[in-house]
Amino acid sequence: MKPFWFGAGPVGSVGALVRLGAIGAIMLSVAGAFAYTGGWLSAVQLTQDRMMAAFQDANGIHAGFRRNHAKGVCVTGWFESSGQAAPLSKAAVFKPGRVPVVGRFALAGGMPFQTDEPATVRSMALRFLPPGGEEWRTGMNNIPVFPVNSARGFYEQLLASSPDPATGKPDPARMKAFLAAHPETVRALQLIKERQVTSGFANSAFNSLNAFRFVDESGASVPVRWSAVPVQPFAADSAEPAAAGDENYLFDDLIVQIAQHPRKWRLIVTIGQADDPTNDATLPWPADRRQIDAGTITIDQASSEDSGRCTAINYDPLVLPAGIEPSDDPLLSARSAAYARSFTLRAEEEHEKQPSAVTSQEVQAEGKS
Ligand code: HEM
Repeated sequence: MKPFWFGAGPVGSVGALVRLGAIGAIMLSVAGAFAYTGGWLSAVQLTQDRMMAAFQDANGIHAGFRRNHAKGVCVTGWFESSGQAAPLSKAAVFKPGRVPVVGRFALAGGMPFQTDEPATVRSMALRFLPPGGEEWRTGMNNIPVFPVNSARGFYEQLLASSPDPATGKPDPARMKAFLAAHPETVRALQLIKERQVTSGFANSAFNSLNAFRFVDESGASVPVRWSAVPVQPFAADSAEPAAAGDENYLFDDLIVQIAQHPRKWRLIVTIGQADDPTNDATLPWPADRRQIDAGTITIDQASSEDSGRCTAINYDPLVLPAGIEPSDDPLLSARSAAYARSFTLRAEEEHEKQPSAVTSQEVQAEGKS
C-alpha cells in the first residue's frame, strides 16, 4: 500500500484547509471501502456517521478536535533502527539507520479539556517517515488489551457510557446490560484495571493492541504486535498534581522532561505463534513469546497541537509500508473508517476550533521551566 495522499502540511491556512478537505474526501472513499470489506456498513448497519454521533453523545461537541483522544500534544524526534527486525519485515523503516518521526501524546476520550487523571488511557501515536515515501503510522495505548473486539462492541460501549439526558450521568443499568452481553470486555477490563499506572507519559509503555503481520523479502509472514517500552525508569503515579489542581500535569511534565533532555522508548516487536489470536484485541498473547528490539524511538521536541505538525495527521493504523500488513483483526478497518470521518469533520470545523488545553504559550513556558 502506498498512501501518498496522507502527507498534509500543518493546519492553519485556507490552503491547508482545502488540502485537508481534499485529503479527507479521498480518505472517506478509502474508508468506505475498508468499512465495506470489514462488514461494518452492510451487516450491522453501523455507519461512520452513527459512530461519530455516539462519540458526540458521550462527550459533547468540540468543534475542530479529534472525536477520540482529543487532548494531546505534538512531538517530533527520530527512530534509530537496530536492524534486528529487518529479517522479518522488508519495511525500509527497519533497515539499520535513522528515520524522522512526528508523534502525538494524548489522553483517550473525546473531551479536549478534560483534567489529566492517572487512570485515563494514555496514547502515543507515531508517523515514521523513511526515505522513499513508504511511511508507517501507528497509534498505541498504555493498556495491555483493548476493551472490545469489534466495531459494534466499541459503539455499544460508547452508548452505554453516554450521559442519560434525564440525570446528566451514565445510567449504570445500561453499562450493566452492555457488560452482561460482552464477557470479553469484562475479562479485558480486569486486565486493564490490574496494570501499573506510571507517573507520566515518559515512563509509560504503549502497545499496538491490534495484531499485524510482518512480511519478509521472500513473502513469508508472521503475526506481530508491538510496543514502545520506556527507557525512563518506572515511578508509580501519586496523583498529587491532579489533586492539587494542575489539570494538565501529565502534559506539563512531559513538556518539561523533553526540554531537559530527549526521552526514549525501545520498539519491541512480539512474534506470535500459529494459535495466538490475531483477530481479537481483548486477548493477550502468552508472555513467553519471542521479542525483538527493533530500535529506539527518541523524542526531543514538543509543541502545542495549535501549531504542531501532528494536528493535520490522521494516525490511521492501516497506513502501512510494504513489509507490514494488517492482520484479520476487524478493529483495524473499523479504526481506519472512524479516524477518516473524525479527520474530515475536524478539518471542516477548523475555523471554529478553540485553542487546545495545552496551548503554545504553555508549551513555551513549561519548556523553559
Ligand atoms: C472500533 C474501534 C475504535 C474506534 C471507533 C476508534 C476511534 C478513534 C477516533 C475517532 C480517533 C480520533 C482520530 C482522529 O481524528 O485523528 C481515535 C484516536 C486514537 N485511537 Fe482509536 N478507535 C478504536 C480503536 C482503537 C484501538 C484498538 C487502539 C489501539 C491502540 C486505538 C488507539 C487510538 C490512538 C492512539 C488514537 C490517537 C491518535 C492521535 O493521537 O491522533 N483506537 N480513535
